[in-house]
Formats: sequence, structure tokens, C-alpha cells
Amino acid sequence: MAEFLAGLKRTDYCGSFRMESCGKEVVVTGWTQKRRNLGSLIFVDLRDRTGIVQVVFDETCDKAVFEKAELIRSEFVLAVKGVVRERSSKTNKIATGEVEILASELKILSEADTTPFEILDDTNANEALRLKYRYLDLRRPSLQNKLIVRNKISKVTRDYLDENGFLEIETPFLGKSTPEGARDYLVPSRIHEGCFYALPQSPQIYKQLLMISGMDRYYQLAKCFRDEDLRANRQPEFTQIDLEMSFVEDETDVMYPVEGLIKRVFKETLGLDLGEGHFRTMTYEEGMNKYGSDKPDTRFGMELNDISDCFKDSEFAVFKNALSVGGSVRAINAKGFADKLSRKDLDALVEFVKTLGAKGLCWVTHKTGEGLKSSIMKFLSEEQIAKFSEICNFEEGDALFIAADKNTTVFNTLGGLRLHLAEKFNLIDPNSYDILWITDFPMFEYSEEEDRIVAVHHPFTAPKTEDIPLLFTDPLKMHAKAYDLVINGQEAGGGSIRIHSRELQKQVFTALGLSDEVIRRKFGFFVDAFNYGTPPHGGLALGLDRLVMLITKCDSIKEVIAFPKVQTASCLMSEAPSTVEDKQLEELYLTVNKSEK
Ligand code: AMO
Repeated sequence: MAEFLAGLKRTDYCGSFRMESCGKEVVVTGWTQKRRNLGSLIFVDLRDRTGIVQVVFDETCDKAVFEKAELIRSEFVLAVKGVVRERSSKTNKIATGEVEILASELKILSEADTTPFEILDDTNANEALRLKYRYLDLRRPSLQNKLIVRNKISKVTRDYLDENGFLEIETPFLGKSTPEGARDYLVPSRIHEGCFYALPQSPQIYKQLLMISGMDRYYQLAKCFRDEDLRANRQPEFTQIDLEMSFVEDETDVMYPVEGLIKRVFKETLGLDLGEGHFRTMTYEEGMNKYGSDKPDTRFGMELNDISDCFKDSEFAVFKNALSVGGSVRAINAKGFADKLSRKDLDALVEFVKTLGAKGLCWVTHKTGEGLKSSIMKFLSEEQIAKFSEICNFEEGDALFIAADKNTTVFNTLGGLRLHLAEKFNLIDPNSYDILWITDFPMFEYSEEEDRIVAVHHPFTAPKTEDIPLLFTDPLKMHAKAYDLVINGQEAGGGSIRIHSRELQKQVFTALGLSDEVIRRKFGFFVDAFNYGTPPHGGLALGLDRLVMLITKCDSIKEVIAFPKVQTASCLMSEAPSTVEDKQLEELYLTVNKSEK
């Protein structure tokens, strides 16, 4: 576009210049990060997505060019022609800090109003303002870098999966409800009165149908939509690296290729070699018993200990009640932290665990040079103390935290407390990576809300073969051929070997309490497909956003998504969701009942 650029077509990116570029005539384009006018000298820091370069206008410039340069303000968009030269005052703050461009031509491509906040990495502008002007926020190098890493991960993923025989196949957004367990986003149909599409929570059913179609190996960087409560690592729309493979025998047939992918991603984005061997595996049971979590962060110890045995004859109501309902008494030993915890800290920890659903927390401390202190001293016998001290390796200097309740609550409490203490005492090396598989998940769990058993993963997950006889006798004892990939205590991905026998699939639906009528209505087309030759298959989905978060070491998923939603699932920039015209509602046969919620 010669008339826009006035012949100033970019030859190089701003961040590309080094000493060896000196003497080269170049054209750079970008945004004005900073302008300093020293009278006879004007310095402009010009920024594009690759970095910043200093441009100088001086007395060698044409008068008209110099006068134009005087008009430059922050965030003006420029094209500059000039010669690269060595800088007299070098800086190592920017990669191009040894050189500058002595300008000879300038085109102001676009002026800019004063931006609502300065475009700086260490901005103190609040998040809401930055999200309202997200396109400006995205000019900040740290955010640009995250999207660049994200692009790299997607590219490496595509390369690796392509090399391994996976086909990238898109599946519909407008589909039928899928059973991932969250609430669906629904889209009303204009043509079919009263009917709705559901946006996919994942392409689960489609990818299994693609295996039945004979596509053999599928993948997709799939957009998924889940109307669930948002957290630091959850968005209502997010992206999965979703894959499925036919003719797999067992879990490792899926896990190993995924390990290859993760290793390649780490190597090519971080230069980090994760080694030759397979990732560690830990069973779900071990994860819960040792870390109180199915996504344990094993970068630090402070493991859980079952001390129920010490209290089987205890008259202390909290312990007694927990044990009488089949629960447990468990403890974590904060080794060497007794001296660092004041009484106020201990009280704060008791309050903290209440946010995790615990009714309370008992503590026993042994400060150096002092005796034992405990919130439940009068209920502890010497024998009990000796016994749990041995189990937990509890010694002088240590602080012990004890939770007693039903197991799920105990795990949640101590698992959460463990992470909280690690953060409080900086127990985790922020630069380390800890990657492991969690396997042998339970097949079903009891849902109090629905008062029935539900699938832990999803209802297409195959049970462990040896557990199939338990389907109608003791389903809660069954284990599934399911696996999660856990990185630094976050669930980075999950998948399973699927059921490929129509009889077994039907039995699992029945065990889940789904009537034939419900099965037909919800997944009739899927069940029918099993009648026509289904290969053994299995797959997994990685959370792409989470992977980018883990690799770029950021705490909020919003940082790795170009246009994210906030806690209330709204977009502060576009103001979605918003009301629509009455006519649109009419066409969709909808009326809005404004309740007083
Ligand atoms: P699952 O529900 O475990 O499995 O999801 C797979 C991975 O997707 C990521 N993830 C999310 N990321 C951001 N925001 C969210 N709201 C969110 N929800 C999930 C997580 C998770 O590990 N169809 C199955 C996969 C399979 O069986 O193949 C599925 O969707 O990283």
C-alpha cells in the first residue's frame, strides 16, 4: 500500500538489530513507546511485537522530517527509514541496546489519543481497566510474549501430532449436549421452535464417532464451552488439545504419545529436556492418601499420615464421630515450622481450612526448647502422642495439623492446607517442573446432589477389566482406565480408554441409573454407532490454556487468552453478554422473564 506507507515498506522488525546490523539502511514500523525531545535531537523508542529500537532524529535530518518528528507522541504509529549505527550510550535493558537508527525519512501512519494507561509491563493500571481496553493491554510485551509462546505450543503440537499420524479434524460447535458434567451454553434455534443447540463442553462424542468412522487418529485444538464457576485456571470458553486413537490396548498406548508431545513442547518452548524415561505415575489412591489431592503438587513433601489407629479408642467427640462414620483422622507435619508459627498464625490456619469445608483443625506444636502445646491437649494421652509422633516423625521444632472427618473432607482440608503452607513458607522452587500421571481413578462416585452414582470421568470411560463384575454389586469399588496429566499441582490433561463394546456401554449407562428412554434421547445416535463396528479406542485432552500458563509461569488463565472473560463470565471490552433486540428474541420464540434475582 504505497500511498499509506509512502514507500516506507518495513525491511526489519524493531527487535532484530544488533551490532552486526550497523551500516544497514532499514525501514522499521511500530508504535511509539517513548519520545524525548532535546531540542536539536529527538529520540523515539519504537516498539513492535519483537521489541524496541531507539530511533534518532538530528540535524542531519531533512528540516521537514525533523518538524514532523516533533509532532510524535506516545503510541503514534510510525514508519521510519534510516541507517543502523552504534549507540554512544549503550544499554542492556533492551536487546537492541547497543545500536540505534539514525532517521532520514518518517511517515506518521496514525496518531493516538492519550491511552487510558501507559503501555508498560510493570503497569499499575487495574485489571478491569486493562481488560476494558484489552487491545491496548495486549500491546504490553509480557502479554505479547505469552501469545507468542501459545502460538509456538500450538505449532509444535500440530507438527508432532501430524508426524505421528494424527489428522486434524474440526467438529461442530452447534451440537447436542455432551456429558462432561458442567452446565451447557445453549443456543436457541430459529428454525426449530423451542429447540436448542448446546455448545460443546468437549468434542468427546464426535471424536469417538470419528474412530468409528475409521479416521484412526484424530486431534483438534478444540474450543470448549462450560458454564461453570470460574477460577484462576478456568474460563467459560477454553481450548483443548484434544486427541483420540484407535486400536489401543491399554492406558499407556495413549499416555506415551502424549508424553512425547509434552517433551517436545517443553524442549521447543523452554529448551528444557525432560529426559528419556516415562513420566512418573501415581495411583489416585496414593495421591489422595499422601497429598489429599488427585492433582498433587509433589515439589515439596509435607505428606499426609493416617493416624486413625492412634485414636480408635479416643473419647474426643470429633475423632470418635469421624471414625464412627467410616472417616479418618489424618495429619500433616510442618517439619521445623513450629517456631515460625505464632498463636495468631495457628488461629488463621484454623480459619483458612474452614474455607475448604472443614469444621475445624487441631494442631500440636513443639517449639524449640519448649514443651508440647496443642489445641486439644486435654484429649491427648501420652500413648497417643507417642504413637502419632512416630507415624508422623513429629519432633521438637515441628507443627502437626490434624483433621478428622469423612475422608473427602479430610483430604480436601489437609491437601489444601499443605498447599497453603507451601505458599506461606515458599517451599516450592518456582522454576521447577513436576510432571506425573495419576492413574487408576475410581470409575464412579456418589453425588450427594443427585443422590446417585455418577461417572468420575465421563460415562464412556472403560472400567478396569478385572472390575467389570462389580458393576452391579459394588460399583463404587470399581476403577477406570482413566489417567490425568498433572503438572505442578494442576490438572493439565485427562483422558481414558473408552468402552467399545455396546453391551458394556449399555450396562454402564444402566448402572448410572439412565433409563433406556433417557439413553435414546441423549445419546441415541452415539449408541447406534456402536452397532456398526467399533475399534478399541482411547484418548485424552490437554488444557492448552493451562499448558501455556504452566510454561509461561503465570497464575491467571486470563494472561494467556487474547480476549478473556472475568469472574462473572463477561467480557469487559465488548460488554458481552448483552441484551438483544426484541425482534431477535421473537425470531427465536423467546421471552425474557426479568426476575428479581
Ligand atoms: P476434561 O473435562 O478433564 O476431559 O478436560 C480436559 C482438560 O481441559 C482443561 N479444562 C479447562 N481449562 C480451562 N478452563 C476450564 N473451564 C477447563 N475445564 C477443563 C483441563 C483438563 O484437564 N473429553 C474429555 C477428555 C477425554 O476423555 O479425552 C475432557 O474434556 O486441563
